[in-house]
Amino acid sequence: MVKYATTLELAAISLERSSTVPLYLQLYQQLRRDILSGQITAGKRLPSTRDLAIHLEVSRNTVSAAFDLLLAEGYIEGKVGSGTYVAQILAERMDCTFDRKNNRDRPKDSRLSSKNLSKQAQQMLAIKDVALRYRQEPPRAFCLSVPALDAFPIDVWSKLTTKHWRSQQADLFCYGDPCGYRPLREQIAQHLKMTRAIQCEAEQVIIVSGSQQALYLATSLLIDPGDAVWMEDPGYLGARSVFLGAGANLVPVPVDEQGLNVEVGIGKNLHAKLVYVTPSHQFPLGASMSLTRRLSLLQWASQSGAWILEDDYDSEYRYKGQPLTALQGLDRRGNVIYMGTFSKVLFPALRLGYLVVPSELVEIFAAARATIDRHSPMLEQAVLADFIAEGHLTRHIRKMRMLYAERQEALVSSARSLGELISVRPCDTGMHLVGWLQEGICDRVVCRLLARQEITTRPLSSYYLKPPARGGLVLGYTAIDCDRIRKAVEELEIILKKIAV
Ligand SMILES: Cc1ncc(COP(=O)(O)O)c(C=O)c1O
Repeated sequence: MVKYATTLELAAISLERSSTVPLYLQLYQQLRRDILSGQITAGKRLPSTRDLAIHLEVSRNTVSAAFDLLLAEGYIEGKVGSGTYVAQILAERMDCTFDRKNNRDRPKDSRLSSKNLSKQAQQMLAIKDVALRYRQEPPRAFCLSVPALDAFPIDVWSKLTTKHWRSQQADLFCYGDPCGYRPLREQIAQHLKMTRAIQCEAEQVIIVSGSQQALYLATSLLIDPGDAVWMEDPGYLGARSVFLGAGANLVPVPVDEQGLNVEVGIGKNLHAKLVYVTPSHQFPLGASMSLTRRLSLLQWASQSGAWILEDDYDSEYRYKGQPLTALQGLDRRGNVIYMGTFSKVLFPALRLGYLVVPSELVEIFAAARATIDRHSPMLEQAVLADFIAEGHLTRHIRKMRMLYAERQEALVSSARSLGELISVRPCDTGMHLVGWLQEGICDRVVCRLLARQEITTRPLSSYYLKPPARGGLVLGYTAIDCDRIRKAVEELEIILKKIAV
């Protein structure tokens, strides 16, 4: 005997006539829910479209459209008009997708367990807090790595963008070279030769979506799980998360006013496969690596065959004298892989950066890039190539140097009034400063209290692999104007005075 779904079983269906969701879709969703939850069991015959339309006071077309969808997705079987049944197969298979007890879809991550995840996914789970630390928030005092967005030459950028949209240049709308848009690679090679004494040809320049992808590519191609990697301590969390995600054995190497201490690194692990350095402006402490250290690092790398990953993230902003030459410019053996980004000189959402790799690695990097996401968006690359070629980049950097020098001065001079509580020393390079806190003040606590006042800082201690003796704050000063910097320092003073007593 055929069992019909009773009016009681259909009683839970309630259609919201004022909703923006069409009635047929509401009906489909509710029938699907009731079938999955077992409210209407497998094998039950649904009422005819006519009866159901009368029961729900909707048109027959509405019911037919809902049934058609359920039929197409396999929730019901049979022909509309000659009897429609809840599919049999569902009774056996439903449990894996639907939590009947709580009458809802099973949460997706309830499946996560070490047995169905790759080793790399398990590493990612372990480091997710470091990897996901970037928050999306508007520019505030003292957020890091955010340039003065209000001073960006948006008119020029939009003119160039419009020009390229209008040109309908076919190569900007098709698949491109995984190494990047050729004119952009040429402009970058030229720019790096002039400003950073980098030795390279355009062929060695690979466009990436920011330094983060450069780190990921280099790490996946150059190290295996368990390989030793020297990491500046304190050092950049973006790099740390990539190395940990790849299962590297991180070797913390201390930094001082001459940068990474190569001797200590050699003493700790002579055979490291890779070293990550920020020689022009150590992140976060700010030292530039001395020539002696640069030469001994290159010597060790050429003897041991280690790779040096040089992250030159903000050296365009040098406030006194000429920008320092890059480590890559001194390398005669092809051990250095150089990376740079447009996140700081233009804006981080652009997601464009570059690698300069030894010639013999170009194809390997290109193949790896092509397998990840083929290449970066072509239109932005073309706009950027023109932006550099027409001199806008150089002009913008020159302007920003003046602006950031003023903002740094505003931070340093206003922080002087805080006396012993925090010591903020000026720096010739970059976009942030370190404020060393009076001994005994916990940097994490200060950051939490500042966050309540909508002030973003990062505790210096979070960048260390080995806990430091003294805490500090890493203070970005480029994103906001001098007045806001001074006001934020006043807030900081109030908080520090409260904590210090
Ligand atoms: C040391 C360092 N390298 C690189 C970057 C830039 O990363 P991306 O190019 O992925 O935006 C940053 C920005 O926070 C940084 O602090």
